[in-house]
Amino acid sequence: MARRPEALLLALLLAGCPGSPPTGSSTGSSSGSSAPPSLVPPGALAQPLSRLPDEGPVYAIDPLPARTPPLVPGAGRDALVAHCSTCHSTAYVSLQPPLPEAAWRATLDKMQRTYGAGVPEAAAEEVLAYLVAHYTPETIEAAYAALAGAPAGGADVGARTYEAACAPCHQPDGRGLPGAFPPLVGHAPALAAARREHLVRLVLFGQQGPIQAGGQRFDAAMPGAGHLTDEELAGVLNYVTRAWGNDARLPASAAPFAPEEVARARARPLTPREVHAQRGP
Ligand code: HEC
Ligand code: HEC
Repeated sequence: MARRPEALLLALLLAGCPGSPPTGSSTGSSSGSSAPPSLVPPGALAQPLSRLPDEGPVYAIDPLPARTPPLVPGAGRDALVAHCSTCHSTAYVSLQPPLPEAAWRATLDKMQRTYGAGVPEAAAEEVLAYLVAHYTPETIEAAYAALAGAPAGGADVGARTYEAACAPCHQPDGRGLPGAFPPLVGHAPALAAARREHLVRLVLFGQQGPIQAGGQRFDAAMPGAGHLTDEELAGVLNYVTRAWGNDARLPASAAPFAPEEVARARARPLTPREVHAQRGP
């Protein structure tokens, strides 16, 4: 198994470098549906990567992420955070290229025997199962397959936009704050199904007026985010309607939000109260 310490080092250097370039690929657009998309789903992938032609399970690593990818949610993640972040950041895991099961096993073995990690047997098994479930070539290819056909304004731009523009109020986990900020878990896909255009107007122009969300009443003002681009707003709507298990609540027929949809709504400016009036009860 080929180790790639130099790739890890480079990734860590880039992750820590504020001036590093964005991760968009300049190669993807012309190569059709077989090429992996250049945008990375939030936390789902260790590295943007593509198979080298005719070289079996050999991957090219390009371009490297400009920020540290968070660990994918899933069983065993807590054990990993608890036991594997005492000596180094968990970025040591999430920045690895995808590794086959045997390589993860060998890595854990090295942590235990060579570095004396002292992770209890049961927890080490949990960590291994987590790594195998999320960070092997097979699972990462599956994540890319799910992304294929993702619209412009895809998952990565959506996650970043959410983090910067929405999470301070609606919280990183999308659950909001009772009495202050409505939950987006459950509520955002319901709006997408019944009031799709309202969602677009809401993020552009904000809203003021009473609403029901997640069985609670809110009556407050949300600021618009019209300073963001059409692509960022389409991306953030795709993110909030699909993240946190919301994808399971979204009707199968729901098309992704497209930047053009945002551009059309942007052409007809509204006040936050007008957005509320058009929302309907
Ligand atoms: C006792 C300290 C210690 C603990 C605990 C520890 N590691 Fe490490 N780990 C290291 C050191 C030191 C390195 C860097 C050495 C190197 O690059 O070979 C490293 C490097 C790594 C790397 C980079 C690739 C490699 O093989 O070097 C990965 C992946 C990794 N650790 C995963 C884990 C996981 C998963 C756990 C939890 C089960 C863990 N580590 C717990 C000390 C530790
Ligand atoms: C400053 C805090 C704040 C920020 C930032 C914010 N929101 Fe809100 N959001 C609110 C409040 C307050 C409400 C309830 C508004 C009301 O009572 O009409 C709300 C309502 C919502 C709703 C439910 C609307 C409805 O009509 O049911 C959604 C969906 C939503 N926000 C998504 C977002 C998204 C996406 C972003 C980021 C682009 C965002 N919010 C940014 C505070 C905020």
